[in-house]
Amino acid sequence: MAATVNVNGRLFDQEHATVSVFDHGFLYGEGVYETLRTYNGQPFLFDRHMRRLRKSADMLALPVPLTNTEINARFLETVRAAGLGDSPSREAYIRLLVTRGVGELSYDPTACPTPSIVVIVKPHVSPPADVFERGVTVALVEIVRNHPGSVNPLIKSNNLLNNALAMQEASRRGAFEGLMRNYRGELAECTQSNLFIVKNGAALTPPVDAGLLPGITREFLFEIGAEAAIPVREAVLRDADLFEADEAFLTSSTREIVPIVQVDNRPIGAGTPGPVARALLQRYRRKAQTLTQARGLELKS
Ligand SMILES: Cc1ncc(COP(=O)(O)O)c(C=O)c1O
Repeated sequence: MAATVNVNGRLFDQEHATVSVFDHGFLYGEGVYETLRTYNGQPFLFDRHMRRLRKSADMLALPVPLTNTEINARFLETVRAAGLGDSPSREAYIRLLVTRGVGELSYDPTACPTPSIVVIVKPHVSPPADVFERGVTVALVEIVRNHPGSVNPLIKSNNLLNNALAMQEASRRGAFEGLMRNYRGELAECTQSNLFIVKNGAALTPPVDAGLLPGITREFLFEIGAEAAIPVREAVLRDADLFEADEAFLTSSTREIVPIVQVDNRPIGAGTPGPVARALLQRYRRKAQTLTQARGLELKS
């Protein structure tokens, strides 16, 4: 799928978008990123993604030398150059990467005076309707989520080996996602999404100090839940909580809310998508539309 890429302010097609092999993002995985999608041509929950990006960057002592307005302009320019964002069937996937930049082979951050800023845009592809209607299987993998005292999962870092290894394990088992435990053996999160279970009508998700990425969709669900009178709260979760749950689902910006109906070969709840996941998804989509519609119309005019 062809991407359009903005590298340090210049637009390229996929074949011509390059960064130096001396970029410390490549050499050491030193960088942070965000993944967003558009609804009505607008990067959804943009301010929240920027807040998280800056927090991640701070944890690496990495400067982000653009304002949110400049980043948004770069997003919209790249979305337009990709010919996307002008109709509901042509929404955009946006990935922003900020790396330490190009410099000598050294861990000294002063070796790299200028961060690299890359925006990758391609057509957003939602998971197939089947995924939402029938739910998915996830694998409870052996790979342990990074210890927060090591590479803290709070950092949305380009250093994704922990996630990649867990997803490889899940893929080998034919699963849609891999669910990781933390170093204490509690459930943490999936490789590219957050976990929720539903028990007695309440949606529960592991607390941030379980060692996980505080997902923007996860955060938004606390608000959606309050509007829908569905309690959404944090709780320490263990394997037994998942296997005894009425429902489970995962959340992410690009996948929204996906029902989990099976973990390895054990069904969760009735083994079909449950009413809480369905209600939250419906509200989430409605809210995404209303929050972006007005600004989307402005863009078209
Ligand atoms: C490890 C991990 N957890 C959770 C998420 C979900 O985050 P968000 O809702 O901000 O997309 C992601 C998204 O890529 C992720 O990589």
